[in-house]
Amino acid sequence: MLDKFFGLFSKDIGLDLGTSNIRVYLRGRGLVMSESSVIAINTRTDQIIAIGNSALKMMGKVPSHILVISPLDHGIISDFEVTEKMLKSVFEKVHRDTFTFIPRPKVIASVPIDVTEVEQKSLEDVVLQAGAREVFLVERPMAAAIGARMPIQESIGNLIVELGGGLSEVAVISLNGIVSWKSLKIGGESLNKNIISYVREKFGILLGDHTVEELKLKIGSAYADKPQDMKIKGRDLVSGLPKEVTINDQQVREAMMPLLKTIVEAIHDTIEATPPELVADIYERGLILSGGGAQIRGLDKLIQKRINIPFIKFERINKFIFHQKIQN
Ligand SMILES: Nc1ncnc2c1ncn2[C@@H]1O[C@H](COP(=O)(O)OP(=O)(O)O)[C@@H](O)[C@H]1O
Ligand SMILES: [Mg+2]
Repeated sequence: MLDKFFGLFSKDIGLDLGTSNIRVYLRGRGLVMSESSVIAINTRTDQIIAIGNSALKMMGKVPSHILVISPLDHGIISDFEVTEKMLKSVFEKVHRDTFTFIPRPKVIASVPIDVTEVEQKSLEDVVLQAGAREVFLVERPMAAAIGARMPIQESIGNLIVELGGGLSEVAVISLNGIVSWKSLKIGGESLNKNIISYVREKFGILLGDHTVEELKLKIGSAYADKPQDMKIKGRDLVSGLPKEVTINDQQVREAMMPLLKTIVEAIHDTIEATPPELVADIYERGLILSGGGAQIRGLDKLIQKRINIPFIKFERINKFIFHQKIQN
């Protein structure tokens, strides 16, 4: 077990292959790349037109021979060929940007807790095909807990809640192992979907992906705070023409609440399934929220109201194993 833990740090590259974002960490340097998990491909020539944030900007705006794809679904690869292409470009970009060329790097990559053997095998294959010499997999909450410097190697209950684009994972870690956990196939992207259906029903307009993301980031919250509203444009479902409406924070919250409550219940259930001694530690030390969803305003209050946990720490940046400098 301990060998496994120390083995984590002997790798060259930490790869956080998320549903929404890819992040690459280099040993001794920390985060060197953070881009959307999106790629744009010209299907006529099979050439890559763009990857990352620039590909994301093209989404919904390209002619039919260009495919803009996000090849991961709830943290799992859904399109192998495309993921391999994307990873190759990512490694090339890291090489170019950092002037660090690691021929055939040893890679450590994060996976959902409940990943199947088949899914593990395909991820390993893809990373190897993209040029790695060796791939080591680690559960996402474990990677986040290490990055957040939780004392996971001690016999202490460490509660981490990792909220990504397609997955929400809750885990209690002690002695380098996951003691109790819950993994939900919901995340920031499902929040967007819920807001889109809410606005369609309430206002009769259809929002685009960029608009709903902006709306969520600007006025989305999990707990009532100061009133806010925002003008948004969508396509009127009746006339088919653009229409502007004003939506407020309370409405966005209402749209997101069923999913937010599901996440809070998952935290509750995980604590309930944890041995009492470790629960005592958790109540003493609090929990850590990580991933993009940790930034949802008021989420700490919503959790506190249900669970009565003394304090919640945020890791606003997505941390990963190599976020900190690690000595050999
Ligand atoms: N301020 C914010 N408020 C609400 N959601 C946010 C905020 N910032 C980022 N997110 C959401 O976090 C998700 C991405 O989180 P991330 O941890 O990068 O995902 P993954 O690791 O699964 O790719 C996206 O769905 C994004 O909309
Ligand atoms: Mg993440």
